[in-house]
Amino acid sequence: MRVTVYSTRRYDQRALEAANAVAGHQLDFRDETLDERTALLARGSGAVCAFVNDRLDAASLAALRVADVRLVALRCTGRDHVDAGAAARLGITVMRVPGYSPHAVAEHAMALLLALNRRLVRAAGRVRRQDFTLEGLVGMDLHGKSVGIVGTGRIGTCMAGILRGFGCHVLATDPVPSAACKAMGVRYVPLVELLDRCDAVTLHCPLVHDTRHLIDAAALARMRNGTILVNTARGAVLDTRAAIEALKSGRLGALGIDVYEAEASIFFRDFSDGIVADDVFARLLAFPNVLVTAHQGFLTHEALRDIAEATIRNVTCFERGESVPETTVVPELASVG
Ligand code: NAI
Repeated sequence: MRVTVYSTRRYDQRALEAANAVAGHQLDFRDETLDERTALLARGSGAVCAFVNDRLDAASLAALRVADVRLVALRCTGRDHVDAGAAARLGITVMRVPGYSPHAVAEHAMALLLALNRRLVRAAGRVRRQDFTLEGLVGMDLHGKSVGIVGTGRIGTCMAGILRGFGCHVLATDPVPSAACKAMGVRYVPLVELLDRCDAVTLHCPLVHDTRHLIDAAALARMRNGTILVNTARGAVLDTRAAIEALKSGRLGALGIDVYEAEASIFFRDFSDGIVADDVFARLLAFPNVLVTAHQGFLTHEALRDIAEATIRNVTCFERGESVPETTVVPELASVG
């Protein structure tokens, strides 16, 4: 099958080519982001492969339909950027990668938490300037502290294991508690109690209607003074403007984010010679206690391999009319709304 691969970076191309060695699909790699305008580049392809910041709203999907595209193969887990209802109406099947190395994202979340707690970025900057003083670098022992996990699916469960390994008390909230987490000694509590009681909180729930701005001004106000918050889930789970106010007041002690509400026009691009015209994002970057990575939680060899193999398998199954696991097909009701 011919597949137009949008938003391609070298690491995507390498992984997809390796995964496609046997299947032999015709992959047309494009660095353009998918949107209503670039959708027409897919003319002649039965399928497109898209990533987290490709636009899959009704207009883009309609343009894909005009280009005769029948399959959108997402090379990601999150499907919050897809208008699944529009895809269903247009007869376009949307598949995703329901799970891949959850360690990749959990370990990245832990890296953010550790780096913030021990002020590693500031410390490394000082040492590079030959300033070997320690003032302002005091952190806390994570051992014995309470850390809250919002969403204990695949990634949240991995995170629970990592935190238990550090000797933390782990509290969690999830409408569907995990038996594996309970077996590790994780205690499930309502979100408000988790926010009240934790020294650090890490977000691992999907972005759906109910979780948009789940962590808003009211939620932030419930947190202990100085709480460290980490978000590797989706940007809009956190109300960024409210987080900025909480950072200014000291309620948030530090913020680590791998995702940002308006990341689509910023992440995966090089602005080092230009201007980022997003004042909210610029304010975030100005805080010494904010650490931002540009949606790289998935970026390990293992995760890239898993994602590429699952994506190629999805295309092959679609082409052959074979069934795929239920969690792979994005259902019509999946739209964030
Ligand atoms: P999953 O589907 O295995 O787990 C999500 C969990 O969140 C489920 O247990 C679900 O019951 C829970 N949940 C749903 N609504 C909730 C709520 N209101 N409060 C608390 N929990 C709630 O998903 P997985 O694989 O663990 O991924 C989680 C999220 O991580 C994805 O949806 C995606 O947005 C994000 N992600 C980020 C990546 C990155 O590179 N930064 C890479 C992969 C995923």
